[in-house]
Amino acid sequence: MIIRPAKNILGALRLPGDKSISHRYAMLAAIAQGATQLANFSTGADCASTLACVQQLGCAVRKNADGTLEIEGREKLQAPESSLDCGNFGSTMRMLFGILASQDFACDLHGDESLSRRPMARIMTPLRLMGAEISAANDRPPLHIRGGKLRAIDYTTPIASAQVKSAVLFAGLFAEGETTVDEPHRTRDHTEQALRAFGVELSRSKNRVTVAGGQKLTAIQAAVPGDISSAAFFMCAAALFPGSNLVIENLLLNPTRASLLDVLKILGARLSVINLEEHHGELVGTVKIEHGKLTGATIEGAQSVALIDELPVLAAIGPYTRDGIEIRDAKELRVKESDRIALVAKNLRAMGAECEEREDGLRVPGNQKLHGAEIDSGGDHRIAMAFAVAALRAEGETKIHGAESAKISFPEFFEMLESVIER
Ligand code: S3P
Repeated sequence: MIIRPAKNILGALRLPGDKSISHRYAMLAAIAQGATQLANFSTGADCASTLACVQQLGCAVRKNADGTLEIEGREKLQAPESSLDCGNFGSTMRMLFGILASQDFACDLHGDESLSRRPMARIMTPLRLMGAEISAANDRPPLHIRGGKLRAIDYTTPIASAQVKSAVLFAGLFAEGETTVDEPHRTRDHTEQALRAFGVELSRSKNRVTVAGGQKLTAIQAAVPGDISSAAFFMCAAALFPGSNLVIENLLLNPTRASLLDVLKILGARLSVINLEEHHGELVGTVKIEHGKLTGATIEGAQSVALIDELPVLAAIGPYTRDGIEIRDAKELRVKESDRIALVAKNLRAMGAECEEREDGLRVPGNQKLHGAEIDSGGDHRIAMAFAVAALRAEGETKIHGAESAKISFPEFFEMLESVIER
């Protein structure tokens, strides 16, 4: 994919449904009573992997004429005939694991090359404590699980991870007693919102969430709000050009996911939010973004957790700010779809920028000029899209290798980007 420099970002967009919410709705629909109807379901390959797994577990999945998706729940899931293919995505594997821990059968799960390198001990430990039998060579996929009767646990997660929290809460739905997850920093709360939408009662106190086992889920009708992690690329792009004016409608604005808006405001971009509504516990609204002189920011602690998927694009626009962007406490970036710290540093340097790579983050000095270059996406969708944004203000053309990886979360990305670029 070749990206040429832009002059401005102008227009209005509506984005496909949020990936995190789409996964959760599809998985909960599978264990709910009745047929769940979902509009604006994520178009990414990751969510297609979740749907394929749900089908392999015996649930009927239909696409209606109006584009809505219908998933028929089952009282008990069916043992799959072959290993469940979770594709590229950690969430599919880790969250499904929580449900499979309770089912009265054994099954295998595998993923692609990237997923096969990702650590799974973080879910194996709590689910084993609950009673599931799990095996995996080197704690990495492929995984084998035999589910069954589960006992409730009170579990403090060593790493702040919404995927781990979700897996334990999903297993907790089937355990005897009350299961609690306590996290070091608050992670995205879509699991809690989705469980409530499907009729489950939960309680929360600070970073502790508790669910009682044995509760029944009831099918829902919902529209998935636009994906804010996909919107991040457009918002950052718009912030780069003095004449930009971009509106994104129907956007997910859940406070545990919308920290990018705060960071862009701190940096100096002009942002406004209108038409705020709540759907099934999720805030949805319209965001308008215009340029402002970008200063600089340090992202650390709880904010690094909240922005984990947006950090690559924030680092990629760091050189265009006055004081730079510093990212700390983000070691988890090294075990995402790629080592995102190493790839961001490598690609910034390829574009002529100076940057300091650290074990848990990066420091990208501001006030630097970038030139077009060959970008190595490492097959990672967020790296490909982040550097498409950096390329818009570089001098000359940029070639993104592995740009097709955008289909993992956002197949329409390059087309939509072109539609809002003024040259
Ligand atoms: C996700 C949680 C995050 C995020 C991933 C999606 C989710 O991972 O990076 O893209 O849907 O719960 P962790 O919770 O492991 O940090």
